[in-house]
Amino acid sequence: MHNPGQLTILITGATDGLGQRVAIDLAAKGVTLLLHGRDPDKGRRVLAKIREISGNSRLHYFNADLASLDEVDRLAASIGNSQPRLDVLINNAGLGAGPNPKSRETSADGFELRFAVNYLAPFLLTRRLLPLLTRTAENTGEARIVNVASAAQRAIDFDDVMLEKQYDGMRAYSQSKLALVMFTFELAEELAGTGVTVNALHPASLMDTKMVREWFGTPRTSVEEGARYVERLAVSEELKGVSGIYFEQDEPSRAAEQAYDEKARRRLQELSFRWTRLDETR
Ligand SMILES: NC(=O)c1ccc[n+]([C@@H]2O[C@H](COP(=O)([O-])OP(=O)(O)OC[C@H]3O[C@@H](n4cnc5c(N)ncnc54)[C@H](OP(=O)(O)O)[C@@H]3O)[C@@H](O)[C@H]2O)c1
Repeated sequence: MHNPGQLTILITGATDGLGQRVAIDLAAKGVTLLLHGRDPDKGRRVLAKIREISGNSRLHYFNADLASLDEVDRLAASIGNSQPRLDVLINNAGLGAGPNPKSRETSADGFELRFAVNYLAPFLLTRRLLPLLTRTAENTGEARIVNVASAAQRAIDFDDVMLEKQYDGMRAYSQSKLALVMFTFELAEELAGTGVTVNALHPASLMDTKMVREWFGTPRTSVEEGARYVERLAVSEELKGVSGIYFEQDEPSRAAEQAYDEKARRRLQELSFRWTRLDETR
């Protein structure tokens, strides 16, 4: 994208790990940055830190716990009401398998927690922000959605999407990430011709973040490594018009098989509209 100084970019989960690294880099390019987090004190601290490092004063913080669909709705509304444009939405916030991978947790709305935070929240946030993204693309020629997924992917069992029968943290994480890729493919078809593109990526394996330290112990790569690929999808000129691709870093790659099953994608979409109550306003 040309003229980073004119872009407005929203990054969810910008208070730590990969999201914070991407935020620091994009702030240094001079973009107007909307940083999302779930803890106001941490949000303020990170905002001040990024402002100091980058010298960029066009940074804004938005708070929302993505484990609550009402908070996701409020986040979308406050961005929609305050921002005249949104060039890029980076759905980065996410939750790993957790320190106790046998312990099933639920969201404020009663959904399996990883599925709620890693998939339902970005599904709802993206759909709520589509009018702003589409308007931006009409005025500027493009807008982009970047979904931070993972190479860890596992097929959804539609008889037990919320993993009530058999819970495992890795399975919960992996199915939520495949759901995000399925959403990416479905949305790319829907948005064809609007100028809004949507892609998903696996940024890097075992980056040095809180999620990895808590889950696997020893990181293998740096956040700088993953951030490079997220930023490429978000702003690189060579990606203009490219949509509906799952990347492993910068390589277009094949996702798990279920992502290519149109019936499964439609089924997930129908359920997601119902679970997020978007079907009531469709
Ligand atoms: N690390 C890896 O090797 C790796 C590999 C593949 C994909 N990914 C993906 O990369 C993304 C970033 O992960 P990371 O490794 O940077 O993890 P991280 O350091 O744990 O950061 C996760 C971010 O998401 C936020 N978050 C978590 N739960 C939330 C909730 N309920 N509501 C709002 N925000 C919430 C966190 O907020 P707090 O700061 O308040 O905790 C934090 O800002 C995730 O989507 C992850 O699945 C990571």
